[in-house]
Amino acid sequence: MIPSLEYTDRYYNEGTRTYSSLADYTEADEQYRPNSTYDSFSLVPLRVLKSQVNIYSANPSAQLFNRYIYENEVLFCIHPQVLLNFKQDPYIISMKEKGEVGKRAISVVPSSSTRTLYVLDDGDISHALKVHFPFRISRYGRKMRDEVIGQAINISLELEEGIKHLDDDFAFLREVLGVSHKNLDILSARNENWGYLVRDMRPFPHVSESRTLLPGFALYGRNFFDPEKPPLLYQLIGNENPLDFVLGNIMLPIIRHWVDCFLRFGYMLEPHGQNVLLELNESGGVERIVHRDLSVGIDMRRRRQIGLSQGNLNNYNRMESGEFNSITYDMFMGGHFFDAVVSCCLKRYPQLTVEDFRAPCRQLFAEIFPEYRKFLPATVHYFSEKRDQFNKPLYKDTGKSPEWRP
Ligand SMILES: Nc1ncnc2c1ncn2[C@@H]1O[C@H](COP(=O)(O)OP(=O)(O)OP(=O)(O)O)[C@@H](O)[C@H]1O
Ligand SMILES: [Mg+2]
Repeated sequence: MIPSLEYTDRYYNEGTRTYSSLADYTEADEQYRPNSTYDSFSLVPLRVLKSQVNIYSANPSAQLFNRYIYENEVLFCIHPQVLLNFKQDPYIISMKEKGEVGKRAISVVPSSSTRTLYVLDDGDISHALKVHFPFRISRYGRKMRDEVIGQAINISLELEEGIKHLDDDFAFLREVLGVSHKNLDILSARNENWGYLVRDMRPFPHVSESRTLLPGFALYGRNFFDPEKPPLLYQLIGNENPLDFVLGNIMLPIIRHWVDCFLRFGYMLEPHGQNVLLELNESGGVERIVHRDLSVGIDMRRRRQIGLSQGNLNNYNRMESGEFNSITYDMFMGGHFFDAVVSCCLKRYPQLTVEDFRAPCRQLFAEIFPEYRKFLPATVHYFSEKRDQFNKPLYKDTGKSPEWRP
């Protein structure tokens, strides 16, 4: 039996954050970390007048919409660690002055990203809140600025409308609602007003059968309570051929999804072990790959090439060159995720080699994306230790040849 997502997302992630020297760093207090023994915590939203906020939506169900948006007010969800530590934040001051504390606390548990929170008393629709958390987790602080919220909603809508162009084994978690405070500082170099997103946790397109979601890292991550437990990957492979299983159910579909999303929309999916979920049927078979986290880079060169409107997008994460394509494909997917799956596999099946996995991946990539040289650099790129004026890491050329593509 594969445990629930709420369990595997928190407790099957030990020993996985080794892909960079910053990966296991967190400023979240113990009680708000996914890998802690605290069950859940309360998020007490503020009630704020609608005139103080921006509201973005992408086909939320009426139940979900009505839960956060009232006639004249909205619920404004803020992480408790932020409320406690950012008392001088102009947006918190403004909301506390004009708004009031919500009457009902929302009971939540942290997901693997720490700042996305599963809502426990979720009514009819399983959903999560992705909140502003300007503390550093891994490489950078996790703000949820207005333009990031607006863009996630734009992408959710566009992907929902274009889903017919993607394979049947592609699914994603829609970001259906976004709320941000209106900007109070028009002179700042970039708008810093912030808010939260509501993520519908039912993989889209919806299906009626009951299925279990398993995060990519939980295939090879150790159990928090019992590190000696065998990896779940072995359980899923069962008696099947391990190479065929891993290529056919995990790697080749994810490569197709990455390429299709790039070619159709100019999106750079970030399929590392945390953003990818396996959707399992009741017999443990993989039905689909579910992608979460729609804060993707957008290759504007590709969008122009296929005549896709720029009008649906704001300016966030627009890109005009291919470095980030390499970071997402070569590093997030290949280096952070696929290499970890392979090394787990090789421990149990030592007759296999890493090339057995990489060669078919390279071949598929070249076959479905013959124009790739136009859009991706010839060498692997990654984050540099240098930062821009907003403390966002810059990129660097590692000089290495790609391993998961030609
Ligand atoms: N095994 C893992 N691989 C990659 N990231 C992980 C892993 N476990 C936890 N994480 C955390 O998940 C986050 C990944 O960053 P990313 O930008 O994909 O997610 P996010 O935008 O914070 O949230 P979400 O995925 O819920 O939208 C980081 O905070 C990272 O520390
Ligand atoms: Mg993520």
